[in-house]
Amino acid sequence: MTETIVLAYSGGLDTSVATKWLQEERGYDVVCLLADLGNQPDVDSARERGLKAGALSVDVVDAREDFLRYFAFPALAANALYQGGYPLATALGRPLIAKLLVDRAREVGASAVAHGCTGKGNDQVRFDLAIRALGPDLTIVGTARENLMTRDQAIEYAARFSIPVETTVESPYSTDENLWGRSIECGVLEDPWVEPPEEIYAWTRHLQETPAESDYVTIGFERGTPVSLDGDRLSPVPLVERLNDLAGRHGIGRIDMVEDRLVGIKSREIYEAPAAVALMEAHRALEALTLSRRQRAFKERVAQEYAELIYEGLWFTAQHQDLAAYIQSTQRHVTGEVRVRLARAGAVAVGRQAPRSLYSHELATYGEGDRYDQTAAQGFIAIWGLPVQLQAEQQLLRQPGDPKTLATPNQPAPDNGADG
Ligand code: ARG
Repeated sequence: MTETIVLAYSGGLDTSVATKWLQEERGYDVVCLLADLGNQPDVDSARERGLKAGALSVDVVDAREDFLRYFAFPALAANALYQGGYPLATALGRPLIAKLLVDRAREVGASAVAHGCTGKGNDQVRFDLAIRALGPDLTIVGTARENLMTRDQAIEYAARFSIPVETTVESPYSTDENLWGRSIECGVLEDPWVEPPEEIYAWTRHLQETPAESDYVTIGFERGTPVSLDGDRLSPVPLVERLNDLAGRHGIGRIDMVEDRLVGIKSREIYEAPAAVALMEAHRALEALTLSRRQRAFKERVAQEYAELIYEGLWFTAQHQDLAAYIQSTQRHVTGEVRVRLARAGAVAVGRQAPRSLYSHELATYGEGDRYDQTAAQGFIAIWGLPVQLQAEQQLLRQPGDPKTLATPNQPAPDNGADG
């Protein structure tokens, strides 16, 4: 009996060819799974292509809300950015697509699942690890890393089997998108010295094309999760869609970075993530109001670990569950509103309020109503400074007036090319 394989399908050239290739070369019956995470697939033409390529069926799953609720929003609660810049849109999408593949494999009694990732990227790692965690008995086929077709060969292959391919010129870029952001790589972007051409951007305006007038948006959070815009309670999908649109018009969320892939190479990556960037700005502003200094400092370290774990494909692990539990716990008073100004490629929090705020005007003010006892500061500093003074006396003492007092020990003078 022919075995069935479930393929993560996008409707593009590569996965359409993969649909045929899995039948011809590997002898599988193929079920195509088109997961919609907000990438706005052209469902009709994708379905037509998949069926022309011989798929048993092309199944479309709208996973947008699950994606935001269980993947993107927890990453927002953590303030997760890989290497300080990438909000992890693609990386967050992969474990969900893998879960959908495994679920569908169970439903149709498949023995295998497939994805079209190349052998040079992070995405294959994320898919494979998630599949091994959720369906260890399933065979995994990585079509692109196993058949190694060039683009021309893929087009030829499609023509041979009468699979319709777009007549438009294929973009030289590789892109991936979902509601949390858009990733763009390849083409001229592979030269890290070259400024990204304007044509690669789809969600954000160039700085010079942004509106002259600022927009203000008030983002409401409950326990670290965004729930409203300007007082309108919105479910995750419309909230993020609206914010992507609004912030994108102001050119917010363009990210240009060289990042370190898990598979050992540096790569130049461009991202567009208007909503993610604006939400993170707002979320951090609300945390500044509602978390203590130590909570903020420790959480930042956790955020880094969390971001790396997501990037490295370790979503379905106990380490993830443990960090997620900590992060969720930190969010119990991160409820309130943040007013964000959107202008000239920047999202800036300009106002924040929270029912459980730790900000005390009576303590902070230099004006009327000051309740802070400034005389108590002297005693505090006397004790806080005790070890500093003691160490200076015992170990750091230098001659009064010695300019070396200002220097860091053993630090050579900077060499600016002038001879000293
Ligand atoms: N470098 C990013 C990551 O590893 C984006 C990958 C984009 N994937 C793609 N197929 N274009 O998460």
